[in-house]
Amino acid sequence: MDPIEYQPEGAFLEKTGISRESLLQLGPSLEAARSEIQADLKAWTAGHPPAPDKDPLDAGFIDLPERILTDYRTRREQSELGRVLATADRLCETVDRVVVLGIGGSYMGARAIMDACCHPMYNELSRADRGSRPRVYFDGNNVDNDATQGLLDVLGQSESIEQPEGGWAIIVVSKSGGTLETAVAFRQFLNRLNSTLKSPSAHSLGDLVVPITGTHGKLHDLAQALQCRDIFRVPNGVGGRFSVLSTVGLLPAAVLGLDVVHLLEGAVMMNERFQTAAVGNNPVLDFAGVCHLLEKERGASTRVLSVWSKGLEAFGLWYDQLLAESLGKSERGALPLTAVNTRDLHSRGQQHQEGVRDKLITNVIVDKYRRDPLRVGQSQWNQDQLNALADKTMPDIMRAAIQGSKQAYRDDNRPTADLHLPCLDEHTLGQAFQMLMLATIVEGRLIGINPYGQPGVEAYKRNMHTFLRST
Ligand code: PA5
Repeated sequence: MDPIEYQPEGAFLEKTGISRESLLQLGPSLEAARSEIQADLKAWTAGHPPAPDKDPLDAGFIDLPERILTDYRTRREQSELGRVLATADRLCETVDRVVVLGIGGSYMGARAIMDACCHPMYNELSRADRGSRPRVYFDGNNVDNDATQGLLDVLGQSESIEQPEGGWAIIVVSKSGGTLETAVAFRQFLNRLNSTLKSPSAHSLGDLVVPITGTHGKLHDLAQALQCRDIFRVPNGVGGRFSVLSTVGLLPAAVLGLDVVHLLEGAVMMNERFQTAAVGNNPVLDFAGVCHLLEKERGASTRVLSVWSKGLEAFGLWYDQLLAESLGKSERGALPLTAVNTRDLHSRGQQHQEGVRDKLITNVIVDKYRRDPLRVGQSQWNQDQLNALADKTMPDIMRAAIQGSKQAYRDDNRPTADLHLPCLDEHTLGQAFQMLMLATIVEGRLIGINPYGQPGVEAYKRNMHTFLRST
């Protein structure tokens, strides 16, 4: 399996960037952050309560991939992952559509996995072309009246709910079990599902609703009342935005027929590199170091994740949340921004090229496409004058756009870095998720901000509840 590679050469600019030496000089601090993270994990594993300045300490995500895989290899179908796979297969045999309800960390990872690893038009394919896996939709990530009803329209009052081709099911994800957006959506979809079930039916509601939640809370209670056949836990010590490689991301991925073992193995590979490689050759420490130095020394307080693949947009949005909720505290923290290129060269490109010098652009580049290259080709209608490029392929044009934009930024002394993904599959995605989660906590430790918890999100929730009850 090929490793992903972080190449920050475009950030090494004399007056407006940083030097390789300054990254190496930061090495001892980065390595100290790594040791601190390892000590945090040990303390968390031993069940020691965190010091007040480290509370909350959600270090459980770090070795989660190893723990899940070990459990699976030892106990197979009895293991958590074994149960995830069995539930996914059961849903595949029973229904044609699965609605995944959740918001924030309970939504974005699964969405990123689907968009990166599945056919770009997955839900439009025939059941056979989907490998007999269900279509997957997302809701509960907003309170958008028309959007939710739009999805309910698609699900319909299916007459054929008893048939796999017509039936649908719900995966509802909420760690706290009380998030209003998800809860309101769940009520809508649950009521609709209930009303479509005939009596007597081959299925009970509890067969068609799979909750992923904490060990207590409103969703937990609801799951008990519905007698859900399968209930999964968001593991202890794993915060929402760090939960993509738990059941939260694994169950939807397994429903889609994706290789969840590969996903986890990719993360394990990144953990090994993080623990053993020196600064200058360690994607996690180097990424954290370059971002930190550019912000501190050059005011690069906007971090653009420039993804050169449509399938990575949701991955970029997942990272937006990770960075924003983890380090956007105490009036600090860089602003994350996802750009999808070449699309956004035609919208944001002007500002990135000539706007305020407050940006670090990290290009996320997929080196190998899944499909054979499409050639421009000869045409009898050459008014577009593309016959001159007839031998070029879409990947050739994409490469030229990447090189061209990197050159343009360099010529104007604007710092960039590259993150190369050998291809877009489960293994590379697992590496990339783990790399960015680890880099975020490294940076948090480096600058003295607790990367876990999101106390600032509570204010809007309190106000929203007050308004709801007073009007
Ligand atoms: O990172 C986080 O913890 C948050 O983004 C949560 O995932 C989000 O608020 C959803 O919370 P819950 O899973 O409790 O519904």
